[in-house]
Amino acid sequence: MSATAQIRVPTPMDLKARKGQEPLVSLTAYTTPIAQMVDPHCDFVLVGDSVGMVLHGLPSTLGVTMEMMILHGQAVARGLSRAMMVVDMPFGSYEESPQQAFRNASRIMAETGCAAVKLEGGVEMAETIRFLTHRGVPVMAHIGLTPQAINTLGGYTVQGRGADAQRILDDADAVTAAGAFSVVLEKVPAALADQITARIDIPTIGIGASAGCDGQVLVVDDMLGLFTAFKPKFVKRFGALGEAGDAAVAQYAAEVRARTFPGPEHVFSDKVPETKK
Ligand code: KIV
Repeated sequence: MSATAQIRVPTPMDLKARKGQEPLVSLTAYTTPIAQMVDPHCDFVLVGDSVGMVLHGLPSTLGVTMEMMILHGQAVARGLSRAMMVVDMPFGSYEESPQQAFRNASRIMAETGCAAVKLEGGVEMAETIRFLTHRGVPVMAHIGLTPQAINTLGGYTVQGRGADAQRILDDADAVTAAGAFSVVLEKVPAALADQITARIDIPTIGIGASAGCDGQVLVVDDMLGLFTAFKPKFVKRFGALGEAGDAAVAQYAAEVRARTFPGPEHVFSDKVPETKK
């Protein structure tokens, strides 16, 4: 391959074809620099509606708007060159009808350049997923714990334990039959996640699910140790950037107060530089 050859960004159908193969790697991103950081390592990058809690300090994802998703989607798109981008549909932008979902999904795709959208829900969203996929909108489904339904689920609890497992199995079957190209399984028992992964022919992307899923996703600020407001059991902190940031800010404040920053190397002399001939 020549140095100038274009890198081919995977398509939703490429990701679907990875079922049962090397695990798909994904993280969220909401800004250009973080997108640039995760791009070389991820198969797809999710502009999650977790942006509302992580970057905007909202108490849940319910207050996230179309405008926020589009703005962050555009920022992430500028930082990606290899990974596929998926953008979350925010609460209230797709539940009313398949037509409403198409109007908003097509706007997200047109204005961000994302390859696919993600929406929450199983059986009840199957008609919408079918409507979208038949009209050129690839859909990543999201079942199990669906944070936009937090008020009806009654908390961020594990979904699908005991007799409730059948509900999640039905959701998995429904989104697969409706044409989703992959499905996020959030906070379901590991054995159920493995059962679903073996049962459906689209990739399962786990978050708080099982290492046996066809891929994994995490909120990037969680795994970097930047978002420390709370730490769900399923988050592993691969870095401690929050602590490193704290220490750096404390050092900066101390040096400003001691007038040791800026140092001579950070300030400009009044000598006019000679221009190069
Ligand atoms: O909004 C989000 O970040 C998600 C997760 C699955 C990572 O939906």
